[in-house]
Amino acid sequence: MDSLDKTFVKALFSSVYYRGYKEIEIYVLNTLLHIFQTMKINDYLHQDFRTVDEIIGRFGLHEQSGPFLQWAFDYTAYLGYLERNNDAYQLINPITAINREENLPQILQFIPSADIFINLIRIIETGIKDFLEGWVKGGDLLFGDATIVNLWNSNFNNDFYGYAVVNHGIAYGITKWFSQTNGSSMLEVGSRTSGASAMTFQLLRDNNLLDSLHTIVLTDMVPTLLEKGRSNIKLQVTDPPLYEQRILDINSPIDGQGFSGETFDIIFGVNVLHVARDLSFTLQELRSHLNKDGMLILAETTRPAANRPMHHEFIFNLLENYHDVKLDPEMRPQHGFLTREQWLKNFHKAGFRNIEYLSELDHYDNISFDLKPLHSFLVLKGQK
Ligand SMILES: C[S@@+](CC[C@H](N)C(=O)[O-])C[C@H]1O[C@@H](n2cnc3c(N)ncnc32)[C@H](O)[C@@H]1O
Repeated sequence: MDSLDKTFVKALFSSVYYRGYKEIEIYVLNTLLHIFQTMKINDYLHQDFRTVDEIIGRFGLHEQSGPFLQWAFDYTAYLGYLERNNDAYQLINPITAINREENLPQILQFIPSADIFINLIRIIETGIKDFLEGWVKGGDLLFGDATIVNLWNSNFNNDFYGYAVVNHGIAYGITKWFSQTNGSSMLEVGSRTSGASAMTFQLLRDNNLLDSLHTIVLTDMVPTLLEKGRSNIKLQVTDPPLYEQRILDINSPIDGQGFSGETFDIIFGVNVLHVARDLSFTLQELRSHLNKDGMLILAETTRPAANRPMHHEFIFNLLENYHDVKLDPEMRPQHGFLTREQWLKNFHKAGFRNIEYLSELDHYDNISFDLKPLHSFLVLKGQK
């Protein structure tokens, strides 16, 4: 293992972190059971098997609650508290007293910065009834006021270990594979507040590669996020490079959105493409904007298995753009995060060659790790 690989493994893997993750899973489970209780769904769900539609009809909920409830029942069933029979669910034990505060100290002991995520969950919980009944949209619940926007900015930040791991991954992948391209132009999609851009710049700088880039374009759909990204880059990167920021929607053709046929040596994105409305279209679109030998590199949170619901989805299933995507039985059977195998299939189908990946799951031998992986991530590269 060379020194770059060693830095990667050291930055990413710790069994302590995964212990914290396990505790977070329990916290989210207890939160859901608590929501079922306060919405008075508990008894009805305990009496017999019920479908999501039956719950929506019986309790007068809005149709926008469907994806959240579906995930909530799948998640609760996966962790053993509901039984599933085709599309219907039954609560095994009507949980009456749930003390969520019990596992909080453990979470914080293992992952001190996880308090940000817990606070997000708490704020969302206070508005979940209004969301389920259709009085507020998920976007309003998640981005409605300054308190929650600040929490978002803290959560999607390199200071939060649970989030920064994937940014380490992309920085490592780009640096590792950099020499396979001409290495002079780079485009990022879904930059948000530039946590990934900053880590990438710094690792390229540390490896004397940054100055070979003469064009760097960082893009997102939300101008205020990009603005915040500028100050993050300034704070987090030694001698930052010149770069420009533009608005770009990955669901529409790139040309015409301020671009006219520009091509790049490297295009990258972190946890963005799983919300592409039509993944096949977006992959082809990005590929068509690569130079010959150019590469697309993605870092994506992955599901360990296609049917494995994940705790982060407590938040994301409130958003239409998370679940309103084009499905395909083979390439994209479920919305949200994909499995490693699904990503590989999609890269092959889009015509990429020299596909390589770094998967956290493959590095478990390098750490003393005795828990089953709860979630994972992938850094995936395809060349034109
Ligand atoms: C998980 S964040 C990326 C975080 C970023 N890597 C960082 O370190 O801060 C996903 C980003 O994708 C953006 N996004 C969502 N849908 C998009 C679309 N259709 N086109 C472009 N960006 C999109 C969101 O605005 C968000 O900033």
